[in-house]
Amino acid sequence: MERTKTGIRGLDEMLGGGIPKDRSIVICGGPGTGKTSFCMEFLYRGAMEGEKGLFLTLEENAAHLLQDAFEVFSKLKRLDELIKSKTINVVQVKTISSIDLLNIIKKEVSTRGVKRLVIDSSTILKIGYKTSGDFRRSLYSLLDYLSTLDCTTLLTIELPTLERGNYGFEVEDFVVDGIIALYDLPIKNRRISALEVLKMRSVKFDKKVVPFAIEPDGIKVFQTENILI
Ligand SMILES: Nc1ncnc2c1ncn2[C@@H]1O[C@H](COP(=O)(O)OP(=O)(O)OP(=O)(O)O)[C@@H](O)[C@H]1O
Ligand SMILES: [Mg+2]
Repeated sequence: MERTKTGIRGLDEMLGGGIPKDRSIVICGGPGTGKTSFCMEFLYRGAMEGEKGLFLTLEENAAHLLQDAFEVFSKLKRLDELIKSKTINVVQVKTISSIDLLNIIKKEVSTRGVKRLVIDSSTILKIGYKTSGDFRRSLYSLLDYLSTLDCTTLLTIELPTLERGNYGFEVEDFVVDGIIALYDLPIKNRRISALEVLKMRSVKFDKKVVPFAIEPDGIKVFQTENILI
């Protein structure tokens, strides 16, 4: 299976090369665990290789999102230039209708040749559906549509809990090709950022919880380190 390199140090090594190309991957985690940062760096690393990226922000204001990105990733070279030239196009989607979302994606992917797509966060799509079954069905049709595109997608899902193992949803219910969970783990008297690959179809991955750090020149996943939980 062809891979798309996330470009995030340590993560591609954990995945034996990258995430499956043209598939949809979920990045889930509690509030402030680093979901948006992972997605931004994924687009940045692609853009540096000439791949167009689209960042659909569903919850956060686009200006604030960019402000935070420049703050967090102050040492990522040419980030501002890639955003100005729309190699990384950040679009705030104010509607919660999945049809509008599909139309924006359709236009961007077919007319601009976007190769990396981020939907942050998909949790808000829940609003407007009476039951979780209805929401799930709409998510399925979105994922079904995404699976027809020549584009690799990261969808973020915000989890209500910070705790590992208690995700608030059935992981296997997600018809995505991969799930990466981000945690803020309490270790002794502090919290540590850590991640775990919960699922990655057709990829042999490292089944370990490993620490990571968000640094000005990018995220570092310490894939050889062990966390004792
Ligand atoms: N200037 C900075 N440098 C390094 N790390 C920062 C900086 N500002 C914030 N952070 C870290 O980045 C984390 C936020 O990352 P991010 O916004 O990617 O998380 P998120 O999971 O998307 O959050 P949310 O649930 O609010 O959407 C914060 O918890 C903080 O620890
Ligand atoms: Mg976020």
